[in-house]
Amino acid sequence: MSSELKAWKRTGMCLNYSEANIGEKITLTGWVDNRRNLGGLIFVWLRDRSGIMQIVFDESLDQTYFADAESIRNEFVISVKGEIIARQPQNVNPDLPTGKIEVRATQLKIISKAMTPPFEIEDDSNVREELRLKYRYLDLRRPVLQRNLILRSKIANTMRRFLDENGFVEIETPILQKSTPEGAREYLVPSRVHPGSFYSLAQSPQIFKQLLMVSGMDRYYQLAKCFRDEDLRADRQPEFTQLDMELSFVDENDIIGINEGLMARIMKDVFGQELPLPMPRMTYREAMDRYGSDKPDTRFGMELKDLSHIAANCGFKVFEDAVANGGSVRGINAKKAGMSRKEIDACGNFVKTYGAKGLAWINYKEDGINSPIAKFFSEEVMQQILEAMDAQPGDVLFFVADKNKVVFDALGALRIELAKKLDLIDEKKLNFLWVTEFPMFELDEESGRYVAVHHPFTSPMDEDVEFLESEPGKVRAKAYDIVLNGVELGGGSVRIHDSELQQRVFRAIGFSDEAAWRKFGFLLSAFKYGTPPHGGLALGFDRMVMLLTNSKSIRDVIAFPKAQNAACLMTEAPAEVENAQLTDLHIRVTVGEEE
Ligand code: AMO
Ligand code: AMP
Repeated sequence: MSSELKAWKRTGMCLNYSEANIGEKITLTGWVDNRRNLGGLIFVWLRDRSGIMQIVFDESLDQTYFADAESIRNEFVISVKGEIIARQPQNVNPDLPTGKIEVRATQLKIISKAMTPPFEIEDDSNVREELRLKYRYLDLRRPVLQRNLILRSKIANTMRRFLDENGFVEIETPILQKSTPEGAREYLVPSRVHPGSFYSLAQSPQIFKQLLMVSGMDRYYQLAKCFRDEDLRADRQPEFTQLDMELSFVDENDIIGINEGLMARIMKDVFGQELPLPMPRMTYREAMDRYGSDKPDTRFGMELKDLSHIAANCGFKVFEDAVANGGSVRGINAKKAGMSRKEIDACGNFVKTYGAKGLAWINYKEDGINSPIAKFFSEEVMQQILEAMDAQPGDVLFFVADKNKVVFDALGALRIELAKKLDLIDEKKLNFLWVTEFPMFELDEESGRYVAVHHPFTSPMDEDVEFLESEPGKVRAKAYDIVLNGVELGGGSVRIHDSELQQRVFRAIGFSDEAAWRKFGFLLSAFKYGTPPHGGLALGFDRMVMLLTNSKSIRDVIAFPKAQNAACLMTEAPAEVENAQLTDLHIRVTVGEEE
């Protein structure tokens, strides 16, 4: 550091100073957050990572310094020497932690000038996100984003401490690897050394962490970067971070217990809150029946009711057919919603995006029933429906009749949509929930084949193993998800540690023994050399920070996120590359050549 800069080195950060320091001579460095020039008096808000301090430049200041103070603009980097003074009572700013004091400047140095930024650096700005992401380094000056990144770091530290105390070893695993079994589309990296061959970027460390258990590492964890070429949403990024763990000689309850302890520790150490344990648990079946979702938001009611027994012979063909074809008719009750016809029709359009062919409704008004389906029902059937739905005057009831998947998807989503519209969600609540006993397989509509719901190394439940060949759809897995406020925070399972059972599972998803060996031979072979029972879980770290900081988007807790179209708007990745690079990789780009 040059001696000049040394002379201007800060004595502390803005929020290090309070009334207790009145009279002290200090030096502060930072950015000009804003300035007001009242003629002979200039007020500057100086911003550093800790917060804001008001600086006063008055006529007692040396002329050259005062001239400099007049020239400074927002986002200049400056260093100020001065004395901490008390503000007059009428000038106290209760919104600033330093609002009772200010610094009367005695010297000023402009360290770096700034162009006018493309948007104002302030928290509640309406600036388009595209612009913010293009100038992310400026966006990251906003206090709310700084707070998020600092909390993210604190949470990571707490996790590491907790896991270290509980006997976990932090181990890194390769990012350039062979296909992983998570089932999302992969990012491929061409190999220069092996022309025509590709690595895939890790979707998760799944296989490596299981191999670490075979190696006897006993307890592993990692803050792991994962890559998945998926369509993005508010809680999804193409590269994201997992807190990934795997443990040997454990069952589901051990893994759930460790993770409950971890969450409680984070809530206590980072947020000063007591988290009541144990967290509630619910089977997948119950979650679907009550909420139409495997990640239910339990902060409000409006649970699904199964009306199939009434609908089977109700007189409305759409309802009767759905039940006769093996589907169901279910409903939700928007209590005291008092909705207009227009609002009800909007709900009908909403459920269409979830594949529902229609949305039947009953508007139970004070002066009687208004419903397009009432005409199909006898007085008695109508009474049965109202009773089953626990309906009171003022309520609006919605029904979907279809295959179960469509009924659950449509009503599960409508339930959330209505809760937002009707303001039923208590944003202060943190509702953790374990969802257990997931199905092992689901039928892929396109291929007509069963695929693994979690991944094919997940152990079936002992009592269901016998159905692996006869009724795969019936087999439940030792798999569990941790859900927070309707968001899937993490998922994991107890793994298969027996190579014969592993082969039966591969066969159930249509993997021949040869195909399984070709793809995962190294793992199947490892399992033949002495494998401990093991299992694990991965928490979506970005999602966790998003929920715990009350952020609306996962992008608000990642320093340099990708935009909705998977591009980095700041560096403009992805981008074309030089032909020479492609030649090295034996790759020819055919974009534009296709018909
Ligand atoms: P899974 O695929 O369920 O399990 O992933 C675990 C958690 O990672 C988070 N997550 C994501 N977060 C942001 N953007 C994404 N694109 C994204 N995809 C997933 C979710 C999810 O719950 N190897 C297994 C874990 C195991 O079995 O131990 C796995 O990766 O919060
Ligand atoms: P229709 O007699 O065809 O006009 O239908 C009467 C009502 O039933 C309309 O409000 C439709 O939206 C609704 N409806 C149609 N198909 C379904 C379905 N599969 N599930 C629930 N409601 C439906």
